[in-house]
Amino acid sequence: MRHHLGYTVGAFSGPTEGDGAVATIIDGTAVAATIRQRAAARTAELRERGIEPCLAVVLVGDDPASAAYVRMKERDCAEVGIVSLDHRLPAETSQQEIDRLIDSLNDDPRVHGILVQMPLPRHLDAERVIERISPTKDVDGFHPENLGLLVRGLPGFRACTPAGVMEMLGAYGIDPSGMRAVVVGRSTIVGKPMALLLLEANATVTVCHSRTRDLPAVCREADLLVAAIGRARMIDATYVKPGAVVIDVGINRTDHGLAGDVDFDSVEPVASAITPVPGGVGPMTRAILMANTIAAAEAVA
Ligand code: GUN
Repeated sequence: MRHHLGYTVGAFSGPTEGDGAVATIIDGTAVAATIRQRAAARTAELRERGIEPCLAVVLVGDDPASAAYVRMKERDCAEVGIVSLDHRLPAETSQQEIDRLIDSLNDDPRVHGILVQMPLPRHLDAERVIERISPTKDVDGFHPENLGLLVRGLPGFRACTPAGVMEMLGAYGIDPSGMRAVVVGRSTIVGKPMALLLLEANATVTVCHSRTRDLPAVCREADLLVAAIGRARMIDATYVKPGAVVIDVGINRTDHGLAGDVDFDSVEPVASAITPVPGGVGPMTRAILMANTIAAAEAVA
């Protein structure tokens, strides 16, 4: 696989066709730890050359979920040796103020990567903010230029969550080539880039959404099913072909704690491999962010 970083974490024995074998639980925490170790080695090399990789993180407002994500990113940066420059702005921040901050981070040679935590407060224009970030510092891979490079199959920053899914598959020896892949969800952050990365890896890709007719039937065609919907436990065993690989991108807060988009207990006996929530895709997203930031620093080194 083109974007595979070349390590193996788990053993995957291939589709089991629902013969009662236990599904492989894809351990995102373990794969992410391996990526961070590699990232730390690259950081050490950069530091020997006098370069301190640096990620600027912009958080506007006090959404507790966003604040929690940002804390986890800062912890990952510390582990990998990336300097994390924190910009916490009040919820009332104006468009002009955030525009000015982005301009100053674009111009600051110490800053290699810029991450503006989404969602932004409603009065701010997120598209305008994303477009203002220099594509060379857009370690989230959200800028139109980086999305365009992905469409064209050219090197550029890839969105961290779908890139993390590809790395996870690679680490478990799951090659999407020739598979029927179904992505449920068409967001610009996950669904669309996920479909493009799977296409690049030679899967036959279908993207489903809220208007898809008979969603369970379409999902049951999938050898590889990626759930990126944002509805807790929506995908149960009736959506899954026996032996399919199931990737759960959802992180939903429920009264009973965090839940994915996949009903794990229902799907696990049917799937050949499945990601848990938490401990699946989440840690991978942050690990790819670290790798992208280091790549940004290496590019100017
Ligand atoms: N909010 C939720 N996930 C993400 C992400 O990957 N990047 C940014 N910038 N904001 C997010």
